[in-house]
Amino acid sequence: MKEQLEKSKQEALAALAAADSPAALEAVRVRFLGKKGEITAILKQMGSLSAEERPVIGQLANQIRADIEQALEDRAAVIEEQELAARLAREALDVTIPGTPVSLGHRHPMSIVLDEAKEIFIGMGFSIAEGPEVELSVYDFDRLNIPVGHTVREWQDTFYITRDESVHLRCQTSPVQVRVMEKQKPPIRIISPGRVYRKDDVDATHSPMFHQIEGLVVDKGITMGHLKGTLNALVKKLYGENTATRFRPHHFPFTEPSCEVDVQCFACGGAGCRVCKGEGWIELLGAGMVHPKVLSGCGIDPDEYSGFAFGVGLDRMTLLRYSIDDMRLLFENDMRFLRQF
Ligand code: DAH
Repeated sequence: MKEQLEKSKQEALAALAAADSPAALEAVRVRFLGKKGEITAILKQMGSLSAEERPVIGQLANQIRADIEQALEDRAAVIEEQELAARLAREALDVTIPGTPVSLGHRHPMSIVLDEAKEIFIGMGFSIAEGPEVELSVYDFDRLNIPVGHTVREWQDTFYITRDESVHLRCQTSPVQVRVMEKQKPPIRIISPGRVYRKDDVDATHSPMFHQIEGLVVDKGITMGHLKGTLNALVKKLYGENTATRFRPHHFPFTEPSCEVDVQCFACGGAGCRVCKGEGWIELLGAGMVHPKVLSGCGIDPDEYSGFAFGVGLDRMTLLRYSIDDMRLLFENDMRFLRQF
């Protein structure tokens, strides 16, 4: 019986060494230590032993059972460790494999120029104001000294929202001037960028929807000199120190005196071409000293305060900035064009 026990032990240890999974280990345990296991079977024969042999064999059997249990435990620990290592290897991430490229969008050329302009104006102490695109004609016209019947109302004809023409898509950013002056007392220094609408046919320099940046400065002692200095600073920062500008007398109902500012044509350098329609200059903006009627209409005393205002076409600014010779490119969203910026 002693030999039987020793033999079972050797077999159990060999089976354990070969076992490579928790299931295999369990099978070994059942085979040797289970209720119907080999060791148990041997012990059931103890009854046939003599009184002297019984405790000796009993002790040996217990020892062998303990040895196998210990071996089981040790082997289980090894298998667990191996499984963990295998799992870590299986689930490892290779962070050195090149990733799938994410294609990033970028800003539209007009947004780039607008951001530049904002930065230039913010640098001069301006803040940004916003106004609605669906505007009351009272703000877009009447309060800007453009009463019913004024010819400007016709050539700035726009898209009407109401039949009585009291609400429309604004045809200029100038109404923001009135909205700001109504709420804010001088000193005022704002720009207001946004979309505007006109009944224009599409061509290389026109679109029924385009963009303006309105500017307004109101304070004591503001003169035309401040206006010229501010706009020249803008043009030179945007287009380079040597960019030539031209201030032409003009008429706007909401400014007195008024002017238009031209920039020398980028395409022909002033000789005259398709882009500047043979003029050599490109009209960039309208400006002037805020009309006393507009000031007083907003509760600002024109004897105490004066101001200048301007409205610049952001689309034209962008064409000039990048030497683009057709405004339609800005709105067609052709990726081959947009990717160049
Ligand atoms: N609103 C004018 C336009 O759309 C541009 C303009 C001219 C704005 C003179 C002004 C200004 O503020 O003072 O043609």
